[in-house]
Amino acid sequence: MKKEPIIMGIESSCDETAVSVIKNRKILSDIIIQQKIHNKYGGVVPELASRLHDKNIVKAVNRAILLARINMNQIDAVSFTLGPGMIGSLLIGVSFAKSFAMGLQIPLLSVNHIQAHILSHFISDANMNYSHPKFPFISLVISGGHTQIVKINEFFHMETLGSTLDDSVGETFDKIARMLGFSYPGGPIIEHFSKNGYDKRFSFSKPLVKGLNFSFSGFKNQILQFIRNNLKKDPLFVKRNLHDLCASIQRCISDILLEKVKKATQENNIFRVTLVGGVSANSKIRKIFTSFAKKEKWEVFLLKKKYTTDNGSMIAITGVLKYERNLFDSIYVTPYAKFKSF
Ligand code: KG4
Ligand code: ZN
Repeated sequence: MKKEPIIMGIESSCDETAVSVIKNRKILSDIIIQQKIHNKYGGVVPELASRLHDKNIVKAVNRAILLARINMNQIDAVSFTLGPGMIGSLLIGVSFAKSFAMGLQIPLLSVNHIQAHILSHFISDANMNYSHPKFPFISLVISGGHTQIVKINEFFHMETLGSTLDDSVGETFDKIARMLGFSYPGGPIIEHFSKNGYDKRFSFSKPLVKGLNFSFSGFKNQILQFIRNNLKKDPLFVKRNLHDLCASIQRCISDILLEKVKKATQENNIFRVTLVGGVSANSKIRKIFTSFAKKEKWEVFLLKKKYTTDNGSMIAITGVLKYERNLFDSIYVTPYAKFKSF
């Protein structure tokens, strides 16, 4: 077992073909090939995504190795996303990782995508405040595929405290953006138009969900109805009110998230919180959490924005942490679409 292993991480669960090379906790290279083709369809088209992963994976691996300035034979293990995600997309990364490991006769480390988002806080330069959260902590996972509140007891000892009963928060941003006539991914576009908006101009009712679970489908329909009703009265309603509308929606979503995390911290008596996943790139969400944390003396950990959305580094760091614990996998592991447990 090497003290400072070099591990290659492969992520292909959705629409990014991402490969990273890591040495111990330090990223040597981080390549992401994004698939722009989905923008015009308003969401990821699974068939197109897997074809593009197939087209891009060798390119991404070669670039990652070149940029890391290493020789392929120096790689000690390969980590890869096993799930959850889109099966066609996952199969490309999983099959590639298996062949690569067989060719070099090195071990395999399969990774749970959500766990990897959470563990990205342990990449050497990932944190805004350059320190890693101490255990235990609460993690809010907000991405296109998932919305969960997780209690992290130890690196590989995690408990889901709550999750969405229907849509994820990222999907909610994307679907609302689509209603407003924008392309995929909608979250960054809503954030962009929110900037000059008055966020108390429109108010929406928050979902009433017990415990630490979320529900966004009713919220999304409420906004759809609101837009439809107003467009009937004024066909230029969206155009005239775009900034205030986006800002009000974004604030309401931020409040829903903060309210549940507050509850989770109180119930568990843990006041150390991390935000992860693509939606945690959102400036309003980051601001709401940091202001509240300052007031309540919580510790809140935010990632550098490049580590919030899907990337190979989060798979590579999880690989390193598994390698250190001898958590290797057999060549016979198969990908899974739905999150089961940690
Ligand atoms: O973590 P991620 O890259 O992929 C999944 O694992 O799902 O998250 C993608 C999601 C998309 O729904 C996208 O709209 C959302 O993250 N997103 C944002 C922002 N940047 C990305 N949502 C709100 N504000 C943003 N700035
Ligand atoms: Zn993700």
